[in-house]
Order: sequence, then C-alpha cells, then structure tokens
Amino acid sequence: MRKQSTLLAIGIVLSLWAGQAWSTAQEPIQPVEPAIVKDPAKVELGKKLFFDPRLSRSGAISCNSCHNLAMGGSDNLKASIGHKWQQGGINSPTVLNSSLNIAQFWDGRAKDLREQAGGPIENPMEMASTHELAVQVLNSIPGYRAEFKQVFGKDSITIGEVTSALAAFEETLVTPNSRFDQWLKGDKKALTVRELGGYELFKNSGCVACHNGVAVGGNSFQKMGLVTPYVTENKAEGRAAVTGKDADRFNFKVPTLRNVALTYPYFHDGEAATLTQAVDVMGRLQLGRTFTPDENAQIVAFLKTLTGDQPVIQYPVLPPSEDDTPRPEPFVK
Ligand code: HEC
Ligand code: HEC
Repeated sequence: MRKQSTLLAIGIVLSLWAGQAWSTAQEPIQPVEPAIVKDPAKVELGKKLFFDPRLSRSGAISCNSCHNLAMGGSDNLKASIGHKWQQGGINSPTVLNSSLNIAQFWDGRAKDLREQAGGPIENPMEMASTHELAVQVLNSIPGYRAEFKQVFGKDSITIGEVTSALAAFEETLVTPNSRFDQWLKGDKKALTVRELGGYELFKNSGCVACHNGVAVGGNSFQKMGLVTPYVTENKAEGRAAVTGKDADRFNFKVPTLRNVALTYPYFHDGEAATLTQAVDVMGRLQLGRTFTPDENAQIVAFLKTLTGDQPVIQYPVLPPSEDDTPRPEPFVK
C-alpha cells in the first residue's frame, strides 16, 4: 500500500513540476530562516552542555564528538565511535537544522529534540552515563548550579532542565543563506547553469517527492529501496522498530539534504562514501532511473548549493569540577 501510494505521489509530483514555469514561491523547497533566540542565557547553557564531555561516563565524549559543529554537525564516520571505542550501529545524522525534523532519529523514536537529548547520555554504546550520574556531576559544579538557577530559577538541577537547555541550543543550529536559498529569494545569479540544471533534474525525476520543504527532507518516513530493494548488512529496521508493523520495515526518516556536502558518508549505514554514489543509488532504487555521469554531476552540483551559513560558535569555557565531582571512568567495565 505504502509503496504504491509513494509511487503515486511521485507521479503526481512529476506531472506537477514537469516543464512548468513556476515562480519561486511555488517551489517545493523553501528557504531556511535564521533562528529567533528567545532566551540567550538558556541557549548559552545548552551550548556548554553540548560541548561538555563530563556528561559521559568516560569524561571524554561530548555531543560534539559525534555531531562536530566544525564538520557540518556530524562525525564523517560510517558509524560513530562511542564509549570505550565501541562502534555504533548507525550513521550519525547532522544536528544542523534538526529542529525542522518531524521527529528525531532515523526511525523517529524521539518526538522532539528534548526527548532525543536524554538518549545519548545513558546509551551504553554512546556516552554510557546515567541521568542520575550526569545530574550529580552537574549539581556538584558551582558554576553550573548558578547558571541553571539563573535560567530555570531552581536550586537543584534535573535531567529535564539539561535536555531543555540542550534543545534550546540545538534550535539555534540552523543554516540560512545557502546559495540555493539566495536563488529562491530572487537572486537569479546565485546559481550557475549547471547547478540549475541539477535542480531541474532533482524536481523532474521525482527526488522532491521525498526531499522537499525547508529542510529538503526531514518531514516524512519513506521506504529505502522503494523500486529496487536496498541490500545492506546493517541491522537497522527503520520505522518498524517503533511501530512494530512489518509494512514499516526499512522506512527511514528522509534525511535533510541541507549541508549534505559536509555530512558524508551517506545513508543510515554510511555505505555511500560520496554524493555521486548516493545520487546514483537514489536514482536507481527510489525512482528506477539510472542517471548518466553528466546528469549525476549536475545533481551533485545542485546539492552542494544547499550548504548554508554555518552557526558561528564561540567555543565555551566550561566551569571546573569541584573536589566532590564524580570522577571520569574512561575504562570501567
Ligand atoms: C557516540 C556518538 C554520539 C554522541 C556522543 C551523541 N550522538 Fe546524537 N546521534 C548519534 C547517532 C549514531 C544518532 C542516530 C541514532 C539513530 O537514529 O538511531 C544520533 C542522533 C541524534 C539526533 C537526531 C538527529 C536526526 O536527524 O534524527 C540529535 C538531535 C542528536 N543525536 C543530538 C545529540 C545530543 C544533544 C547529544 C549529547 C547529549 C548527542 N547527540 C550525543 C551519535 C551520537
Ligand atoms: C521515495 C522517497 C525518496 C526519493 C524519491 C528520493 N529519496 Fe533520497 N532518501 C530517501 C530516504 C528514505 C533516504 C535515507 C535512506 C537510508 O539512509 O537508508 C534518502 C537519502 C538520501 C541521501 C543521503 C543523505 C544522508 O545524509 O545520508 C541523498 C544524498 C539523497 N537521498 C538524494 C536523493 C536524490 C538526488 C534523489 C532523486 C534522484 C532522491 N534522494 C530521491 C528517500 C527518497
């Protein structure tokens, strides 16, 4: 059913966009707008937490280890390295523009950024701490106590405030002003002829059926291997892990294509090393279409125009631990 309805959707999209002269207001992709910061102190606190490896059992792994803001909010590894050098089971998605996602994680098992942020701290493969221990560490640090008090007005810290501050920081990690967005906003010189050709192919061949909206993805779950099955050794089941429905097997959240030039390797298993490979697989498996090398190169050229202004991060100075702060345990069993 789902496969048919997605194919139907692609058909409708194709007939809608094929060869028509639309104004940019009717494009299937909309520009990223800058974040509006309502509570700067909360964002600043969230930034500290994002960079603080003391949220991990080892004292060595922070959110930024796997979502490196110097590398497009990802780690550029097939699968992340977690506690005690363990290899994670799935590719780390970017945190950039993640506030635009319908849900978090490849299978959407967290409904929003707040719910998501609690996960990695106590995931034994990732930061391998517990919420109790992480909160105990933070509560032992006077600098944090003062800052949480200022932001939340309470004397002691709870995990809910930790995840709330992390989410507030992540909401600022949007990337407006890409060359493609400049074009969308009317600067017709912002793209080259080849980049525009790539965008036309992206629309006319049906990529936009799944990769659309502000994030060019992130807003639906779709089958990986819609036309031709995807073969992988990776164990991830996709959305079926959440719904328990067989029909959802291999349905993954469509990744955002914003900043995709920075977030290699690609797919949930990280098996596509380059954009050329990823575009080729998408064409064949999702649309039953084999692009010529030149068509592929044009689509890749278009995808590279989706790199926006990266968040300007002033590296935070973290408040020091106290004598009674629980010590890091990098090598515990
Ligand atoms: C050891 C590596 C690692 C660490 C540390 C880590 N993450 Fe992740 N993160 C991942 C992986 C891998 C996924 C994808 C997991 C999945 O979908 O099952 C992910 C998913 C996410 C997502 C969802 C993005 C999306 O598009 O679905 C967000 C947001 C996120 N992490 C934020 C954080 C925050 C905040 C922290 C720190 C508290 C953190 N991560 C720590 C590896 C890591
Ligand atoms: C039927 C829906 C659908 C269509 C059509 C589709 N995609 Fe995708 N795309 C997905 C899904 C789902 C994933 C994630 C698959 C996975 O990781 O297993 C994805 C992943 C990608 C990725 C990798 C992103 C990353 O960060 O890992 C790129 C690049 C991409 N698509 C480009 C395209 C292009 C170009 C086209 C058109 C030729 C296209 N897609 C057509 C659903 C679709």
